[in-house]
Amino acid sequence: MEFAVKSGNPEKQRTACLVLGVYESRRLTAAAEQFDTACGGYLGNLLRRGDLEGKIGQSLLLFNVPEALCERVLLVGCGRERDLDDRRFRQILVHTATVLNDTGAIEAVLYLTDLGVKSRNLNWRIRQAVEVIEESQYRFDLLKSKKDAPRRSLRKIILSVPGRRELPEGEQAVREGIAMSAGVKFTKDLGNLPPNLCTPAYLAEQAQALAQEFPALQASVLEEAEMEQLGMGALLSVSRGSVQPAKLIRLDYRRGPAAAKPYVLVGKGVTFDTGGISLKPSEGMDEMKYDMCGAASVLGTLRACAELNLPLNVIGLIPAVENMPGGRATRPGDVVTSLSGQSIEILNTDAEGRLILCDALSYVERDEPAAVIDIATLTGACIIALGRHPHGLFSNHPPLAHALIAAGQAAYDRAWELPLWEDYQEGLDSNFADMANVSGNRDGGAIMAACFLSRFTKKYHWAHLDIAGTAWKSGKAKGATGRPVPLLTQFLLDRAAELEPQDGHATH
Ligand code: BES
Ligand code: MN
Ligand code: ZN
Repeated sequence: MEFAVKSGNPEKQRTACLVLGVYESRRLTAAAEQFDTACGGYLGNLLRRGDLEGKIGQSLLLFNVPEALCERVLLVGCGRERDLDDRRFRQILVHTATVLNDTGAIEAVLYLTDLGVKSRNLNWRIRQAVEVIEESQYRFDLLKSKKDAPRRSLRKIILSVPGRRELPEGEQAVREGIAMSAGVKFTKDLGNLPPNLCTPAYLAEQAQALAQEFPALQASVLEEAEMEQLGMGALLSVSRGSVQPAKLIRLDYRRGPAAAKPYVLVGKGVTFDTGGISLKPSEGMDEMKYDMCGAASVLGTLRACAELNLPLNVIGLIPAVENMPGGRATRPGDVVTSLSGQSIEILNTDAEGRLILCDALSYVERDEPAAVIDIATLTGACIIALGRHPHGLFSNHPPLAHALIAAGQAAYDRAWELPLWEDYQEGLDSNFADMANVSGNRDGGAIMAACFLSRFTKKYHWAHLDIAGTAWKSGKAKGATGRPVPLLTQFLLDRAAELEPQDGHATH
């Protein structure tokens, strides 16, 4: 989809479709009011007859509106003006995108980004519009022999800004929304790919392809022999049962000052999680193809970074493995030595994410990071604790946790913090090694996993996002969500903004 911003009166728009808002109950928004005056009160009359209440989810498509220069007018319900918040604004856009797709219009001019949304500015409204519309266009039909491509004539969306002065701000917001959406789409596609295609080697190829596409990105891949040499016994223990070799994938993005410490994103890349010898039950096991969504979100975020040309140094690191049972697979009871030197008694081979992450987390110490954020579909317990709306967040550094929560709120990709208290740590005691990979009971499973990781992240500021409940949707709408690319990209946008004066121009 192509996006643009425009200022100007709605009645002057020569367009295939003009989209105007109607508040509940039967009240025209400012732009609709202005248009209505020009067309002799046609809309007002319609509303008085009771054809559109203005509830969210309602709309009315009009043709041949008297005096109008546009071919169609789409009236869209916006709910009560004073209730218009983030969620409702997004619902209005989802509905608009769906209805527009079913019209024959090639382009549309939307007078919705000028609506007032509680404590949100123009940048936010435009970015959300771009993201929601892109999201509503997403299909994954790569593997269907007959594409279910509907008659899709809509090519261009024009978003209104209040005046000429706001055009640059609007254009920047469109750029950000497009970069974010491209990152989200990249992440969704990788997540949705079946596990016979999306293997550790495939993830490595995708990183290399990104580096080909964006000169600011450099890719490198460590093979099993090199990981063995380094001493990554925890990571390697997970892929022992698989015929797919493990890969440690690294992407470097260097557009910040040479001396600026890098932000490091570490993504769990289990391309399929059977549980290993601690085999999972068969119901819904197909969804364990999504166990690499953390990895995919790292790639998607770096893609967005590169597209936005952010003046930062960022490193993406992806331990990629397949967790399978087999004659060579790790057994419950095996003890392995991690890169950190700490020994681990593996009591459950299904708690594999923490085993690959711990070695990756030790490995990044040498990069002297400004902060490290790992992203992982780590525990079913996180879904029990928080449901499927927020990511679970843990951190050893409160300001970092705060910055991530704020970024999530700004990007409508929210995280919720859970405790990481010392009190929990004794649950990981082992009689035979420095620690066990699971605790002896099911209490606080998401917290116990984070406690395990925290033993490998003492040398830097670190946060952990458990995306088990948020990375994909189950049921009829099964599919990857692309989260937390918006949160992570926003976090990096915020770090870049700290470097520059507010207006974005360097002072001389
Ligand atoms: N990838 C799973 C976590 C998961 C399960 C995410 C279901 C989303 C939906 C992870 O590797 C796992 O198996 N975790 C175990 C940990 C347990 C053995 C301590 C879990 O959550 O059951
Ligand atoms: Mn598992
Ligand atoms: Zn897993």
